[in-house]
Amino acid sequence: MKNKVLVTGGCGYIGSHTVVELIDNNFEVVIIDDLSNSNKKTIDNIEQITGVKPTFCECDLKDINHVRNILKYNKDIKATIHFAAYKAVGESVEKPLLYYQNNLISLINILTTQLERGNTNFIFSSSATVYGNPKTLPITENNETQRPFSPYGNTKKMAEEILEDLSKAHKKTNIISLRYFNPIGAHQSGLIGELPNGIPNNLMPYITQTAVGLRDKLSVYGNDYPTKDGTPIRDYIHVVDLAKAHVKALKRQLDNEQDKNFEIFNLGTGNGYSVMEVIKTFEEVSKMKLNFEIVQRRDGDVPKLFANANLAEEKLNWKAESDLKEMIASAWKWEQKVRT
Ligand code: UD1
Repeated sequence: MKNKVLVTGGCGYIGSHTVVELIDNNFEVVIIDDLSNSNKKTIDNIEQITGVKPTFCECDLKDINHVRNILKYNKDIKATIHFAAYKAVGESVEKPLLYYQNNLISLINILTTQLERGNTNFIFSSSATVYGNPKTLPITENNETQRPFSPYGNTKKMAEEILEDLSKAHKKTNIISLRYFNPIGAHQSGLIGELPNGIPNNLMPYITQTAVGLRDKLSVYGNDYPTKDGTPIRDYIHVVDLAKAHVKALKRQLDNEQDKNFEIFNLGTGNGYSVMEVIKTFEEVSKMKLNFEIVQRRDGDVPKLFANANLAEEKLNWKAESDLKEMIASAWKWEQKVRT
């Protein structure tokens, strides 16, 4: 018998890559997604990659009765991996209530329905944004968290606080929060990848969209940071490596190996690259010149963020494998495929 896993947001960028890894590791997957920032075609592409079609339920998690109804037919779900959330930082600054309502009500509803069923295994999709502007680097899980700059980031921090309270009140819950650094790249098949709605906020899709001619030029937000070349440093991680970490976390949970019932892991490579290094590597990989200009800093950007990912290596037996070139090459392959 395969273990059945519920994946919310399973048609999205990180969710879809995780579904592929789950299927490859012999899990049965049920996806709940409202398709607000994803496409149903992703299900067919997952089937093309894995040979298995996951069960798909179109549902807005804010509708708790709809969620209950889906779970009625899936009583044997062993764990939930919760990706479903709005994630556009700029939009969240303009429409904070939309973000608090969607991201937090969805989380509360999915947790409520899981508790009602006595299912207590839960993996949460968190972000390094909860560290704010860290005082020490590389960042370990013991670094203090700070109030993130954006409402989006704050929903991640608040979600972790909700999960911590829940873990204290319900000792039988098993919760793992995974704090992602900067996920980029796409599946090697070129069938799934990142497809942002409208103008991308994030660096990698902006670069690839500029290179295919969809955007005129990349704006580099500031080159006067206290870093080696003046541009901010981030820990970019391949989305497939990230997806694999979820499978490891899930196995840890299902095998009852958690040291405590609320665990947190950083998911990064431990290597920091500047914006200029990312641009140069893209130019090397694509053999193209990228059109860019240096502009003003963007509000809320911190100079340096990179992980100490030793805890994940020790406890999850997981380590990111791809280097920056591979990540960028896969993102570039995906962008070209998607536009043809
Ligand atoms: C951003 C979010 C973070 C979120 C993460 C998800 C902010 C402040 N933070 O992280 O909360 O969890 O995405 O992926 O938005 N850059 C440019 N030009 C661009 C875009 C980005 O120069 O057009 C630079 C940024 O200044 C930054 C780096 O590229 O130094 C990475 O930016 P981005 O990909 O948006 O990620 P983060 O800002 O680290």
